[in-house]
Amino acid sequence: MGVPVTKKTVLALAGSPVKGGSTDRLLDQVLRGTRTKDASVEKIYLCDLKITPCNSCGKCEKTGVCPIDDDMKWLYKKLLKSHVIILASPIYFMGLPAQAKSMIDRCQSIWVERFKLKKKFGKKDRMGFFISVGNMTRPHLFKGAVATVKAFFATIGVKYTGDLLFPKINGKKDIMEHPTAMSDALEAGAKLVSD
Ligand SMILES: Cc1cc2nc3c(=O)[nH]c(=O)nc-3n(C[C@H](O)[C@H](O)[C@H](O)COP(=O)(O)O)c2cc1C
Repeated sequence: MGVPVTKKTVLALAGSPVKGGSTDRLLDQVLRGTRTKDASVEKIYLCDLKITPCNSCGKCEKTGVCPIDDDMKWLYKKLLKSHVIILASPIYFMGLPAQAKSMIDRCQSIWVERFKLKKKFGKKDRMGFFISVGNMTRPHLFKGAVATVKAFFATIGVKYTGDLLFPKINGKKDIMEHPTAMSDALEAGAKLVSD
């Protein structure tokens, strides 16, 4: 009998409120790439979830548990066990839109568990990947968002494996006219699930 092979689980988080927008299309293309392997893929639109912003109530500081009862309750579990986590989000005001940022801020309870209460987390070698676009061309366009996503990935225990960042993209059509974006995304997806 052979050793059972664990299917890679891919959690795709669409952070833009625009379904079918640039980051959503890039995310779909990365997911297409992940399908080159027998991975189990789940895509979630953060804008469809009820995620209350962190109100810094301080309750998680002692227990590592956030008392807010909303969709983060089940999302925490997926964030902590998926092999690959992909966050796709546009730039809003040089950072992340509220939908993505609220989800990230609510991971403060995980930060407390991991770094204050020193709880051990099981799964290692998990990967995180960031997809973003913005309309501007200024040099530091993605700097703030990348720093936030790096902190998010470090908190949930995934390695920042790579990103796809495209400036000068506005509206739904621009990304389709980019010379390499779609092939870059397909390739990145395949790489995420290759062993
Ligand atoms: C509220 C808001 C704020 C934005 N702020 C920025 C910004 O600071 N820099 C930038 O380059 N683009 C900014 N944009 C443009 C978006 O990043 C751009 O339209 C992007 O293509 C949207 O991606 P999506 O189709 O995945 O939603 C902003 C758009 C909105 C709606």
